[in-house]
Order: sequence, then C-alpha cells, then structure tokens
Amino acid sequence: MEKRAKSKAFMAGGIGPVSIKNRLVRAATFEQGATDKGEVTDFLVELYRALAKGGVGLIITGHAAVHPRGYGNPRMMRITDDTYLPGVSRIAKAVHEIGNDCKIFLQLNHAGRQQARPELSNWAVAPSPVFDPLMQRTPRSLSVEEIEEIVECFALGVLRARKAGFDGVEIHSAHGWLISSFLSPHKISVKMRTEELPKIGCVFLQIFSVVRGGSLGTTFPLSSK
Ligand SMILES: Cc1cc2nc3c(=O)[nH]c(=O)nc-3n(C[C@H](O)[C@H](O)[C@H](O)COP(=O)(O)O)c2cc1C
Repeated sequence: MEKRAKSKAFMAGGIGPVSIKNRLVRAATFEQGATDKGEVTDFLVELYRALAKGGVGLIITGHAAVHPRGYGNPRMMRITDDTYLPGVSRIAKAVHEIGNDCKIFLQLNHAGRQQARPELSNWAVAPSPVFDPLMQRTPRSLSVEEIEEIVECFALGVLRARKAGFDGVEIHSAHGWLISSFLSPHKISVKMRTEELPKIGCVFLQIFSVVRGGSLGTTFPLSSK
C-alpha cells in the first residue's frame, strides 16, 4: 500500500489549467456505440460512467467527427453541429456526477484518406493524391478552401466540447487519419509541399492557433496524440 502511495502514477498532475487526480489515463478507444447518425446512446453514457468509476484520472473518449463529411467509422460519435450537444453533454455529465474527480477529454477527428463510408466516397481526402496501400486507393487532394473549412470545423468542435462540459480535447493526429497525413512526409507530394503548403501553413498548428486566438484563449486544454 505504501509503495503504491509513493508511485508517481498515483500522484496528482495537471494539463494546462485542469488538475488531474492521478497519472492513469484511459486512451481513446472507438466504441462503435453511437447511432447511425452519430448521436450518443445510453450504451455510451453507461460505458463512460463505468470507466470513470474505475478510478482513472482522465478518460479520452473514442474519436468524434468534427466535419460533416469527416466521419469514417460506422456508429462513430459526431459533434458536427449544435444538435449533437445534448447527447455528448450526457457523457461529460455522467462522468462528473460520480463525484470522484475523474476528468474527461473529447477526442476530435477527421477521417481523411481513411474514409470508408460508401456515401462519402468523394471524401477520401488528403493533402496530396498519394496512393494509400492500406485503403488500396488514391485519395482526392483537398483544396486550400476545403482545408480552411476543416480547420474551422476543428475549432468549432473544441468550442462545442467545452460547451458540452468536457474538461478538454484531444486532437487525433495519428493512425493515418487526416491530421496525421499533414504531418507525414510520405503523404505529402513534392508539388503540394512547394506550391500550396506554404500558403496553408501547418494545419495542426493552425487549429491550435485559431482556438487559442478565440474566446477560449488558454483556458481550455488542447492536447494531441
Ligand atoms: C478497438 C480500438 C479502438 C481504438 N480507437 C481509437 C480512437 O478512437 N482514437 C485513438 O486515438 N486511438 C484509438 N485506438 C488506439 C488506442 O488508443 C491505443 O493507441 C492503441 O491501442 C495502442 O495502445 P497500447 O500501446 O497501450 O496498446 C483504438 C484501439 C483499439 C484496440
């Protein structure tokens, strides 16, 4: 017991302005528990309530889509407009009302080149049309205007997460989804790099800069994986 008390894993920490009671974090795990339209279900609310009861300091939700054409998995949560707020708020409320100081971040994502929904076949997108061996196809290249719209959608997703009562967000920047394509030198063609990327800048940093420059400032934790 004494050994456990001394372990750093059980010491309090913090992310930005949010204090976290220990260093145990439940990593984002897609639950396939939303409705076909991406709305929160009782199953999801009860799943997160049970996870919070387990004693972790922080839960990161499974990925939620921020852009209306950026959901990639079936029955994935969406936070693409305000109609989703009452549903996602239920998750944050269920975790907080337990009263054991568990924090919860909403993970925000855009499917990018890994878009697998038949109704969104024109939305397998990436910074450049570079063949993707996993999906066995070449994604469509995003226009500068589309990229700007996606950055805006991430920023709105952060605002909605805050409104819904989450303690912070995690931007999904890994595993081949859209933001990771922008970070990978293998997925950005030379043409994009030399002609268009200088105009666009770093998409990942742009999301942070738009959010930090907006009403939330630095009051709300923005994390990334
Ligand atoms: C079923 C399943 C769903 C996952 N969903 C997500 C997700 O929504 N977002 C994410 O960032 N990672 C997701 N992951 C990845 C995990 O968060 C984690 O990074 C991965 O399992 C490796 O962690 P480990 O090294 O501790 O096993 C998922 C993993 C699994 C097995």
